[in-house]
Amino acid sequence: MKGHKFPKDKPVLVTCGLPYVNGPCHIAHLRTYVPADIFVRLLRKLGQEVVFVCGSDTHGTPITVKAEEEGVTPGEIVARYHKHFLDIFPRLGIIFDNYGSTDDPLNHRRTQQIVRALMENGYVYAKTLRLPYCPTCKRFLPDRYLRGTCPYCGAQARGDECDQGCGRYLEPGELIDPRCSICGTKPEMRETRHYFLRLTAFEDFLRGYLKQMDGTDIARNYALQWVEKGLQDWNITRNLDWGVKFPGEEGLVLYVWVDAPIGYISSTEEWAQRTGGDWEYFWKGPGYLIHFIGGDIVYHHCLFWPAMLKGAGYDVPYAVVASGMVRVEGKIFSKSRGYVIWVEEDYLDNGLDPDALRYYVASYTGHTRDLDFSWATYGEKVNKELVGTSATSSTGPSSSPTGTTAPCRTARWNPRSGPRSKRRSRP
Ligand code: MF3
Ligand code: ZN
Repeated sequence: MKGHKFPKDKPVLVTCGLPYVNGPCHIAHLRTYVPADIFVRLLRKLGQEVVFVCGSDTHGTPITVKAEEEGVTPGEIVARYHKHFLDIFPRLGIIFDNYGSTDDPLNHRRTQQIVRALMENGYVYAKTLRLPYCPTCKRFLPDRYLRGTCPYCGAQARGDECDQGCGRYLEPGELIDPRCSICGTKPEMRETRHYFLRLTAFEDFLRGYLKQMDGTDIARNYALQWVEKGLQDWNITRNLDWGVKFPGEEGLVLYVWVDAPIGYISSTEEWAQRTGGDWEYFWKGPGYLIHFIGGDIVYHHCLFWPAMLKGAGYDVPYAVVASGMVRVEGKIFSKSRGYVIWVEEDYLDNGLDPDALRYYVASYTGHTRDLDFSWATYGEKVNKELVGTSATSSTGPSSSPTGTTAPCRTARWNPRSGPRSKRRSRP
């Protein structure tokens, strides 16, 4: 945080970036969830009231592309991995007060309410766009249905994000030399009506807001740089069936980055319904909102999200805490290239201790630096810093990261006999 004392006077809502439920939990997820969980435990020890929420991110082309690859419905993919995440967080000692889903009716309703409010306040307008359409697949190609070249850095990129290069969010139509990601066909351009959020109307607001927003420097400074470079209005609709319907327009759903962060609100509403708590205390009242996110989604959380909240009459986050990137064995984390640790299959199912992994993630380096996971370093850290140290040395850690005083249950780790990610990518 910004060097001043964290305010302890009022209850806090802490959220973690919602995982896309298009695959199982991996090491890069833990980069966000473990530190957030530790932060929540710390606040509670200090006597602060905290509500800790998360949920599954269920819409958008991350889900529909995966469903098509497997020949099943998006709903089946969502059900499978929603259950997986519900099950895995407690196994890692991460206990949310509520774990929701962006496909819950509560979230559909809250999203439509917010979009209607933005429309009523004059922040949404319609515009006809010429967008890539695949004549072979007979459909428009939003986001991950498109691959091509990033217009900013020249790397291979997806339709909505330069995922392997500069990390920029890309507007539909920006990608150079796009191809259909399903069949490789060069798309033709067709006209279709879309809706935009007037992000440019929030430029002054965002500049002022970001300067005082608490959290990590990488969140604040990246976002401020983007504001200084000039914002563009934001296309908030997509030609898809799967998602939250755009109010009043058949055949259009909201872009997943509209309904996903609103999942933070609906997850709080669900918590409130269950416990008799007050969700508005955090979203329209004095409570503090703190988002823990990966460093790759700063744009969405520090520009789109505060603009949406402000424009619809909600409070904006007190802090955005963005983590550094994850490497596996020194290589940039990549599911497709096999630089990944699957938390269940590679780790927990091999009988390895969740606390040892939490310890690794929390102690490897500072929160905003790159975290490299390597089995050799893991073995060294476990053996030198955790196993048996409390008996032989007075300086070693005497309690496990989750606060139990029992000695670490992890057996001595031998890197040569340990599990490795053999698979290059998951089927
Ligand atoms: N599912 C997104 C990702 O993995 C994160 C969504 S965070 C939220 O990058 F704010 F939209 F919920
Ligand atoms: Zn195609």
